[in-house]
Amino acid sequence: MQQRILSGIQPSGALHLGNYIGALRQWLDLQHSYQCYFCIVDYHAMTVRQNPDDLLHNIYALAALYRAVGLTAKNVVVFKQSDVSAHTELAWILSTFTYMGELERMTQYKDKVKQHKKNNNVGLFTYPVLMAADILLYQANLVPVGEDQKQHIELTRQLAERFNTIYGEVFTLPEYFAAPQGARIMSLDDPTKKMSKSATTEWGYIALTDNPDVIMKKIKKAVTDSGSEIRAGKNKPAITNLLTIYSVLSGKSVTDLEQLYLGQGYGKFKTDLGEVIITSLEPIRSAYNELMEDPEQLIQSLLADGANRARVLGDVTLTQVKTKLGVL
Ligand code: TYM
Repeated sequence: MQQRILSGIQPSGALHLGNYIGALRQWLDLQHSYQCYFCIVDYHAMTVRQNPDDLLHNIYALAALYRAVGLTAKNVVVFKQSDVSAHTELAWILSTFTYMGELERMTQYKDKVKQHKKNNNVGLFTYPVLMAADILLYQANLVPVGEDQKQHIELTRQLAERFNTIYGEVFTLPEYFAAPQGARIMSLDDPTKKMSKSATTEWGYIALTDNPDVIMKKIKKAVTDSGSEIRAGKNKPAITNLLTIYSVLSGKSVTDLEQLYLGQGYGKFKTDLGEVIITSLEPIRSAYNELMEDPEQLIQSLLADGANRARVLGDVTLTQVKTKLGVL
């Protein structure tokens, strides 16, 4: 039987280069060899207060982006989390297998609490349990995500093992899968922080839908390290990050790039990098813009079809779980 993938992204606004390199590009490579379930995790997005109109727009935009990047293989199921109620049902069940201490240790939770001091809701805390339900419901073998999600996958495995030990084998233990390069893209204006829409200013990230002028401006403005050498290294986080992005998008190795820019300053390097990013994102941006001209019909039918296919599998797992627990 074909192995299965589950992964997801929050519909919380424009996606950035970190999402693309850390997650979407991996999905693109893997879609031909796995049965893929790519979820729009709208319930996760609700852990931060959302405007309803914006949320719906962002759901459509994310579905359009999934298509625009090229997730179009036959065996790809794109669906919205809230359309499949088994996610929240399983999340509740799994929460009774999760210890407070395990959730308190989650670094993403600790970061989010700092960011959302005024809305430190219970959902922020139990977020990884819902994520575990997303994954386990589909008996996923592989979860391709950025490095920031690794801890959540480890917790997912633990919950699956705990359940299986008590009630017998139900859940497949999923493997974490990270991009060989670029699993953690850093912010352009602060290379000690991961690239993110929420943690830094708009100068910190490049949105997949940014126009070429904006991309070039952001790269020109990106902070650099002391010295003028184009060389990766532990004490050069900014240039290492830029070299990683350049390398992933151009297919040239970091060593080759260091050679290419030997003795040259940041100016030429940044212009070339800007061009590489613009060229890589242009087809996505134009496909996305075309889809968003009239998203209603296409996206609605894509999501309806995805939800139907997801429900079938989700219900099988949930039924097994409920049977084991004695509630069916
Ligand atoms: P989210 O929406 O924050 O991010 C989506 C994906 O992008 C990756 N990513 C990055 N990769 C490299 N460098 C970065 N700077 C960077 N920023 C984000 C994330 O690791 C992720 O793969 N909890 C998840 C969503 C989720 C999920 C799931 C994922 C919910 N349920 C089940 C997998 C399986 C999240 O908030 O991702």
